[in-house]
Amino acid sequence: AKDVLILAFESSCDETSVAVVKNGQEVLSNIIATQIKSHQRFGGVVPEVASRHHVQQIIHCTDLALKQAQVNYEDLAAVAVTYGPGLVGSLLIGLMAAKAVSWAHKLPLIGVNHLAGHIYAANLVTPIKYPALALVVSGGHTELVQVSAPGAFTILGDTRDDAVGEAFDKVGRMLGVNYPAGKTIDQWAHEGQDTFDFPRAMLEEDNLDFSFSGIKSAVINTLHHAEQIGETLNKKDVATSFQNDVVEILVTKTKRALANYPSQQLIVAGGVAANSGLRERIQKEISPQIEVVFPPLRLCGDNAAMIGAFAYVKYQQQQFNSLALNANPSLDF
Ligand code: KG4
Ligand code: ZN
Repeated sequence: AKDVLILAFESSCDETSVAVVKNGQEVLSNIIATQIKSHQRFGGVVPEVASRHHVQQIIHCTDLALKQAQVNYEDLAAVAVTYGPGLVGSLLIGLMAAKAVSWAHKLPLIGVNHLAGHIYAANLVTPIKYPALALVVSGGHTELVQVSAPGAFTILGDTRDDAVGEAFDKVGRMLGVNYPAGKTIDQWAHEGQDTFDFPRAMLEEDNLDFSFSGIKSAVINTLHHAEQIGETLNKKDVATSFQNDVVEILVTKTKRALANYPSQQLIVAGGVAANSGLRERIQKEISPQIEVVFPPLRLCGDNAAMIGAFAYVKYQQQQFNSLALNANPSLDF
């Protein structure tokens, strides 16, 4: 059969990314333009600033993606784009670019759910085996998802409040770390001691849901209290204790999900999948029982290759969208 080349766009948050993916599993190019520097001084992503950056970057990224893949528009089978969840202004830029290509080159348009993309980043490493369990951990999401067949998702557990990456970023901010703070907290967690006992919310509860606002508040209260009594805390110890507690919650709930939903594979996806503490514990405690897929760091964060990977599933199912496809900021499975 002829190879299926898909041009994919991702612009849901603060990375502008364009990729060319072959048969849903081979990355021919994956250009990622990050805007983090422009948002850092605000301590988080500013939607208006993000949209403007996407406008400035997207055409250049598209040219680069095609050039690097050594592909012309005529070689493409379809064009894919993230249509949610995410920031509406940011999503619209990717959508407009994808629609323009679709219309001008008469290519089918495929709208992709950003979370499905994060999960299908695994398919760029090794073919997904069904049923699979996915732990999706990012700045906006913390979910346990069952993937029973290609493109068939069921949410088994969700966060009741903050996403895990958001908790890393907020705690980091209190510790004086630049946004996004996950990577630095992760580094500090290797240098400090686990001396604090923060509450591990919902660990005992017999469900698959998460809550991270309690632990975040506990860290903040501990820091405030120390400040009031003039004590200086070791930031690295705080980071270590926080990360260990968060990882404990994630690993416990994942094990519980695997016990209740027999799976062929565990996929760990999203930006927080880069966390080394999480990787180590899953490797040690879950890998012996079941195949675990951790996409490489470049495919864990937001990128268009993962969007192209999932778009291939929809391409095979002939699930195409019209040019009326709109952004859906709160899109769910
Ligand atoms: O998936 P992603 O790139 O963007 C969203 O869709 O949210 O995830 C970004 C999140 C940020 O909150 C960032 O702090 C976190 O992933 N992150 C980490 C690590 N690297 C990035 N969190 C913990 N440990 C890390 N090593
Ligand atoms: Zn993401």
